[in-house]
Amino acid sequence: MSELGCIESVLYTEEVIDQKVRELAEIVSEQYKEKAKEGLVLVGILKGSIFFISDLARRLTIPHQLDFMALSSYGSKTVTTGAVRIIMDMRADIYNKHVLIVEDIVDSGYTLQFLQNLLATRKPRSIATCVFLRKPERMKVQVFDETRDFMGFDIPNEWIVGYGLDYDERFRSLPFVGILKREVYEK
Ligand code: IMP
Ligand code: MG
Repeated sequence: MSELGCIESVLYTEEVIDQKVRELAEIVSEQYKEKAKEGLVLVGILKGSIFFISDLARRLTIPHQLDFMALSSYGSKTVTTGAVRIIMDMRADIYNKHVLIVEDIVDSGYTLQFLQNLLATRKPRSIATCVFLRKPERMKVQVFDETRDFMGFDIPNEWIVGYGLDYDERFRSLPFVGILKREVYEK
């Protein structure tokens, strides 16, 4: 099946994504106006956040540093077991700085929980998360704090691809966010 033929429906178009990223960038810029003076590191989680972090960062009006980590969760293609492995650590020293984790999606919350705990041991001034998508129905651990974290959209419990998100390394570069046909992953 072609890439587009695997898409059930488009959830967010390029225009809708662009508008949401602008809104998030404005809120983050406002919230971190003072903190950014003490050092702000945006940590993008590879590979899913590549487009989100590059769009978000270019809209921020506050100084910041960019860094990346690559993580991998054990499990099948669509189900995480909760065990997370570091594939590549970031280069920045985050001691005494503000950290904003930039993630594509929070599903069970295990990846984010692992990351928050790990980064906390490096003694940054603060840690918060900016996540583009969240599946509230699937959350197993409460990792999201509305007063501290930033979020784009709450989405239904479907497998989502595009704008960085993949299924088995496919579909990442689609410019929109789409729902994958179930027949692609339920065989
Ligand atoms: P967690 O279950 O919150 O730990 O999420 C683990 C990872 O699974 C996320 O960072 C994504 O990379 C991936 N993931 C979860 N749901 C989806 C989805 O609907 N599409 C693509 N990737 C997903
Ligand atoms: Mg991810």
